Amino acid sequence: MNDDNNQSANRAHWSSTFGFIMAAAGSAVGLGNLWKFPYLVGQNGGSAFIVIYAILLVFIGVPLVIAEITIGRFGQLNPVGSYGLISPRLKWVGAMGLVTGFILLSFYPVVGGWILYYLYHSFVAFGENPDYAKIFTEYTSDPYWPCITLLIFSLMNYIIVALGVEKGIEKYSKIMMPALLVILIVVAIRTITLKNGLEGMRFIFQPDFTKVTGKTILDAVGQVFFSLSLGMGALMTYGSYLSKKDNLFKSSISIPFIDTIVALLATVAIMPAVFAFGFKPTAGPALIFITLPAVFDQMPMGSFISIIFFTLMLFAALTSSISMLEGLVSYITDKRHLNRFWATTLVSVVIFLLGIPCALSFGKLSNITIFSGKSIFDSMDFLASNILLPFGGIMLAICVGWIWDGGLRYETIIVRNQKGNPDVVTNGYVFNTCLKEITNHGTLNFPFMSAWIFIIKWVAPIVVFTIFIDNL
Ligand code: PHE
Repeated sequence: MNDDNNQSANRAHWSSTFGFIMAAAGSAVGLGNLWKFPYLVGQNGGSAFIVIYAILLVFIGVPLVIAEITIGRFGQLNPVGSYGLISPRLKWVGAMGLVTGFILLSFYPVVGGWILYYLYHSFVAFGENPDYAKIFTEYTSDPYWPCITLLIFSLMNYIIVALGVEKGIEKYSKIMMPALLVILIVVAIRTITLKNGLEGMRFIFQPDFTKVTGKTILDAVGQVFFSLSLGMGALMTYGSYLSKKDNLFKSSISIPFIDTIVALLATVAIMPAVFAFGFKPTAGPALIFITLPAVFDQMPMGSFISIIFFTLMLFAALTSSISMLEGLVSYITDKRHLNRFWATTLVSVVIFLLGIPCALSFGKLSNITIFSGKSIFDSMDFLASNILLPFGGIMLAICVGWIWDGGLRYETIIVRNQKGNPDVVTNGYVFNTCLKEITNHGTLNFPFMSAWIFIIKWVAPIVVFTIFIDNL
C-alpha cells in the first residue's frame, strides 16, 4: 500500500499501457458522457451540437490532453510537483488544480449517490404507477437520504484509491471500463430496436442550427474540458504513473477517442427510447433521473435494462471520481507527509464533509445561493466546469507553448564559413524538453507535430480565453 510513497524514480507505475488507457479513459468517461452530453445534444439542436463539440474536441481538447499527460510523465510527480519542475513559479497552477479537485469532489459524488439510490430502486420498485418527478424531488430534498447515499459512494471511492495505483485504480478500471462498454452497447441495441426508435436517431443526426446560440458554444467548450477531465491535473497525475518507455502520443489520443465513442453511444442509447415513449428530448438534467425511469417502466425487459443502465452509470461515476481523488492523494504522498492509507483517509473525510452542503442544496439548504441565484450544488459545478477547468487549460497551453524550456519555437540556424557566407542552414523546431518527452528523445514518431505546436501556442489559449471572458 505504501509503494508510491518512495522517491519518484521508484514510484508506482501502471502495470501495462492497457491499464493506463483504461484508467485514463475511465477518468474521462463519466457523468459528463452519460448524463450531460445526451441532454446537451437534446437541448442544442441534435447533431448541430455534436458538430461544434467535435470541432472543439479535435482542435483544442486532444492537443491539450497530450500536453497535460506530457507534463505528468515528465515530472513523475503530482500536479504541483510537476509544474514546479518546469518552473518553481508555476506551482500555483498545479495548486489551483488541487483546489479544483476539491470543488469537483464536493458535488460529483453527490450524483454518484443518486445513482446508487436509483440502482437500488431498479431492484426494489418505487411502487405502483410512480410519479418520477415527485420521487426525484422528494429524494433530493430529503435531509438524510442524499447524505447517506453520498457516504456509500464516497466509501467505494475511498477503498479503490486507498488500495493504490496498480491494485486499486488500475485493477478496477480494467474491469469496470470494458463492462461499461458492453452494457452500453446492449442498452443501445435495445432502445434502437424499439418501435419509433428510429425517429430518435433522426432527431440526433439531423442538425437544427437554429438552436445554436452563443451559449451553445460555451456549453460545448465547458463540456470538452469536463468530459476529457482536462485542466485540473487528473490526467497529469495518471500520466505521472506512465513509464518512460511508453508511447505517450499513442496512449494519449486513445482517451478522447474512447470518451467520444461513449458519449455518442450514450446519446444513441437514450434518445430513441425517449422518443419511442413520447417524452421530450429537451428535458435537460432531469433526463436521466426522471425521464429514463419512466421510459424503462414502459419498455419490454425494462427493469433489467434499468439495473444494467444504473450499474453502467455507477462504474462511470466511480472511475471518474477516483481520478479526482488520486490527484489530491498523490500530492500528499509525494510530499511524504502521510502514507497512502492515511492520505486517502484524510482527503476522503474532508471531501465527504464538503459534499454534505451540496447534497442538501436541493432541500434544507436550497435557499442558500452563491453565484447569481445558483444553489450550492450548481455553484460548485459552475465554478469548476465553467471557470477553473478552462482557466487551468489556458495556463496549461501557456506553460507548454511559451514557458517550458523556452517554449515551443521554430529556429533557423545558419552556420557560416570563413568568408562569412552561409554554409549550413537548418530550419526546424527546437527539440526542447517537451518534444523530447513526447518522442522519447526522438526515437518515436510524433504525427501532426507542427499542427500541435501551433494549436498549443496560439489557438488553444486564444480561443479558450475568448470564450472564457465571454462566459464571465
Ligand atoms: N470527465 C469526467 C466526466 O465526464 C469528469 C471529470 C472532470 C473527472 C475532471 C476528472 C476531472 O464525468
